[in-house]
Amino acid sequence: MSRIAFVNGRYVPFTEAMVHIEDRGLQFADAIYEVFAVRDGRLLDAEGHWKRLERSLGELRQGVPMAMVSLAGHVAETVRRNRVRNGLAYLQVTRGVAKRDHPFPPAGLPQTVIITARRIDRAKADAAAEAGIAVITAPDQRWARCDIKTTALIANVLAKQAAREAGAYEAWLVDNDGLVTEGSSSNAWIVTADGVLVTRSLSHAILPGITRASVLQLASARQLKVEERAFTPAEARAAREAFITSAGSFVLPVVRIDGQAIGEGRPGPITQALRADYLTPAL
Ligand code: PDD
Repeated sequence: MSRIAFVNGRYVPFTEAMVHIEDRGLQFADAIYEVFAVRDGRLLDAEGHWKRLERSLGELRQGVPMAMVSLAGHVAETVRRNRVRNGLAYLQVTRGVAKRDHPFPPAGLPQTVIITARRIDRAKADAAAEAGIAVITAPDQRWARCDIKTTALIANVLAKQAAREAGAYEAWLVDNDGLVTEGSSSNAWIVTADGVLVTRSLSHAILPGITRASVLQLASARQLKVEERAFTPAEARAAREAFITSAGSFVLPVVRIDGQAIGEGRPGPITQALRADYLTPAL
């Protein structure tokens, strides 16, 4: 089956889906994106992703390109046309096409909207969750507004590549105070020796993960003790459990940090319980 993308109001074959060379998304990363998990044909945590998209666009002083309900309709239609039951939907909005010049172009320029959807191999993802993943730590070299979900991801790309070259799945970014901010494309969590769930509190230093917000609710439903605060790589290495959250990975156990086994070197029970909770469809 050939894939279909939505670009600027039209559904087109994937191989013919194009944007202009002077698109400000390409020239300046003047663009916002969202990644939605599709599970059994439905978008997980859709409301949170829509709210964050609106907020991110507002922070860049871009408006919404069309009514949110229409955008949502196009994401659903792209998922449907690509027959994605389990996978990811991707949405990107840029400020549009204009002669390359840093200031905003005149108002009224149509924004660029790109939507794609692809399947993921659920068995492979479940196997990764059973084995757990390795992470490395790397300096956080990103800009000062990591709470905005822009496509300016080069520092994230370099950190992820460093992880892959070290045989790890993710890089946990460490700020100038020696504290973990988050992963290159996920939020970072640990469970301390005392059983306390710890993840960094929201600020300009991290993306307010939608999966993170859901997992905080699930943790509270389980009456787990939670601390939203920063932790060091040393505290993480001494943790009983660790995991990451994102739309792509849900809740994924971390079993090694910088080559050192976490806990018993296997996915921990709290992590596994939260993953199961997250993936149990609400009735
Ligand atoms: N990444 N932190 C960063 C830097 C991220 O890029 C992401 C998501 C998250 C987790 O956010 P959420 O739970 O809302 O997916 C945290 C997406 C999946 C990506 O860039 O592919």
